[in-house]
Amino acid sequence: MSFADELRATALALSAPGKGILAADESTGTIGKRLASIGVENAIENRVALRELLFSAPGFEKYVSGVILFDETLRSTGKSGTSFAEMLRSRGVTPGIKVDAGTRALDASPNETFTQGLDGLAERCEEYYAMGARFAKWRAVLTIDEAKGLPSALALAENANALARYASACQSRGLVPIVEPEILMDGAHGIEVCGAVTRRVLDAVFSALRLHGVQLDGMILKPNMVTPGASAKTSANVDAEVARATVAALCDTVPPSVPGILFLSGGQSEEEATERLRLMNTTQKADRAPWTLSFSYGRALQASCLKAWGGKSENVSAAQAAFLDRCKSNSEASIRR
Ligand code: 13P
Repeated sequence: MSFADELRATALALSAPGKGILAADESTGTIGKRLASIGVENAIENRVALRELLFSAPGFEKYVSGVILFDETLRSTGKSGTSFAEMLRSRGVTPGIKVDAGTRALDASPNETFTQGLDGLAERCEEYYAMGARFAKWRAVLTIDEAKGLPSALALAENANALARYASACQSRGLVPIVEPEILMDGAHGIEVCGAVTRRVLDAVFSALRLHGVQLDGMILKPNMVTPGASAKTSANVDAEVARATVAALCDTVPPSVPGILFLSGGQSEEEATERLRLMNTTQKADRAPWTLSFSYGRALQASCLKAWGGKSENVSAAQAAFLDRCKSNSEASIRR
């Protein structure tokens, strides 16, 4: 059976105008760090409470087309006894699932990583589809280090190929793949270095996707924005530079048949992530950017919400208000004007 039409429809729905994705798929280790930052224990009750707070925020479906879940969350239920997947679907929000199993050092280049999780992926995709998921996510991580010549050709080839094999496995089983090659912001390099590396990475990724026969109108790209390194000196005009450099790199590399480019936030502040997205959609010419440019943020949608919550049930409404505020601002920033 071919899922071509369904994949196209799901990818279009995920990149609907004015909507983006909430990445709530932190692994148990990563969510533990977020909970520790507000002094909350990394226990399943607390992980479930945080996810329930987000998924029951009143009206968030106006701004959010899909939510990426971690395996444990897809299998969890809220207080009402309804599964989170069903809770989201009943509000018109598409549930998705992280299917990678994290990164490991490459033996031949120990400062770089490959992403695990291809073994048994076909079977997991079938199970996730049966549980209601309609899209998936796989994160590849690339590092810039000019002195060491990174990213290496090995890291580019290995990560591009794994992303493509993952995407092909997902599409054969009805899940829209979110293809996420994240170039980390760490370093003191300038924005032009990030632009050049982003072009190399995206070229390698789209070559591999073609080689694996991936249906380009049935996928979503989730890239980093093109930014200066986190420890580089920045100009007062940095947000506009990021918007311009990002759209330029994407125009050079991403085929127009891809329906949506939904960025990760990658350590930018909530305000930076919103403002840069807004500038891309307001100052860059629409005819240069054929795809929807929107958000698939984790930290940039949850940081102030997490702080407002602090693990206390009496703060749930205030935390939901903080979350909704970010959803609304990013929704507005994703509309091309
Ligand atoms: P951030 O927006 O916090 O970078 O997370 C997005 C994501 O899904 C990373 O894989």
